[in-house]
Amino acid sequence: MEDTAKLYEDLERVLVRREEITAAVKELGKRITADYQGKEPVVVGILKGAVVFYSDLIRELDLPMYTDFMSVSSYGAGTESTGELRIRMDLTNGIKGRDVIIVEDIVDTGLTLFNLKKHLAGRGATSIKIATLLDKPARRRVELEADYSCFTIPDAFVVGYGLDYNEKYRNLPDIGVLSPRIYQK
Ligand code: IMP
Repeated sequence: MEDTAKLYEDLERVLVRREEITAAVKELGKRITADYQGKEPVVVGILKGAVVFYSDLIRELDLPMYTDFMSVSSYGAGTESTGELRIRMDLTNGIKGRDVIIVEDIVDTGLTLFNLKKHLAGRGATSIKIATLLDKPARRRVELEADYSCFTIPDAFVVGYGLDYNEKYRNLPDIGVLSPRIYQK
């Protein structure tokens, strides 16, 4: 069994430390709370990458809110996006007339959220906003800007705090750049 110290050996470097994440999520929670006064948003977590961020973020929202989840992807098992939206698991409830906040781990090419936002708008949501933990603007292929973002990061493949490489490293409390030797194997 590998312990997490071993997992850290697969990182080139730690990019965002857990203390910085905690502070940024708290700050974001305050902003969203202020922006949604008098509303009861449906906060949609995108599985699986956003689960850690999602669970921390909703506890910083001082608002009545509803939880729901979706599993969508434009990614296979590698590090390059295919650009196709695939809905693996849909929302439990309708969003017609609701204010929706999509919570995502990272905006990379932007294709997943671009397609998802368009798709959810078609279901009659009153508003749809995007809250992302990480933003990698260097790789954007479509015009998509997150309404809320915690960290802008360079063009590197990162793992931890929910983000994976082949389902591994999600449990790391910090965010790190994965050593290329891991995916070049
Ligand atoms: P996009 O459609 O290219 O914006 O891809 C978004 C999805 O790709 C994210 O939800 C992640 O699951 C995955 N992804 C993009 N960059 C990374 C990364 O650096 N590490 C882990 N997953 C990533």
